[in-house]
Amino acid sequence: MKKAVILYWSSTGNTEKVARSIGEGLREAGVDVSLMTIDEAEGIDYFDYDLVCIGFPSYYWHTPKPVSDYLKKHFNDHRRQGKVKLGSPNVPGKNVLIFCTYSGPHTGIDEATPAGDYVGQFFGHIGFNVLDKWYVLSEFIGNEAASTKGRMGDIRGMPTEDELIGIKAKAVLLAEKL
Ligand SMILES: Cc1cc2nc3c(=O)[nH]c(=O)nc-3n(C[C@H](O)[C@H](O)[C@H](O)COP(=O)(O)O)c2cc1C
Repeated sequence: MKKAVILYWSSTGNTEKVARSIGEGLREAGVDVSLMTIDEAEGIDYFDYDLVCIGFPSYYWHTPKPVSDYLKKHFNDHRRQGKVKLGSPNVPGKNVLIFCTYSGPHTGIDEATPAGDYVGQFFGHIGFNVLDKWYVLSEFIGNEAASTKGRMGDIRGMPTEDELIGIKAKAVLLAEKL
């Protein structure tokens, strides 16, 4: 049985909803899934899993500080273990899915892709294969103007139940790539 861990950080719940939907899809596909916040994931070793899923919101088109701190700490641990090699050779069977929720009030998805690319580098450096990056448009909870008058229009209630079902379905398909 393939093993996956879903790590996430979520302040207003959007990223958590996406994380849970991914978990449902992977489980449906027969994957052994552990779901945890990054605060609960202090001691985990990415290399114990066939798939690491990591999710976070875009904050100022970057990762929130607790997420970047977490990634840097794990990166330095891997470096000490000799797992950061020049040339970053691919480690067979080690995959990562990156997912980022964002509201895009100013420049749309361009406010999220830099954060996804940044996180991808932490995994690419240790030889993981970046399977995909999913950017999920989400309500800016607590900021009505940004949720109604921004570039993406009225995004209240997003991700919707239907969108979450779609994410679950994508996760089922993703499991086939493991
Ligand atoms: C402090 C802060 C900064 C944010 N900055 C951005 C941003 O630069 N671009 C963007 O698209 N969304 C931004 N957002 C919106 C969040 O990325 C979005 O609402 C996300 O879905 C929140 O995820 P969460 O509910 O899991 O915490 C920001 C939200 C907060 C609270």
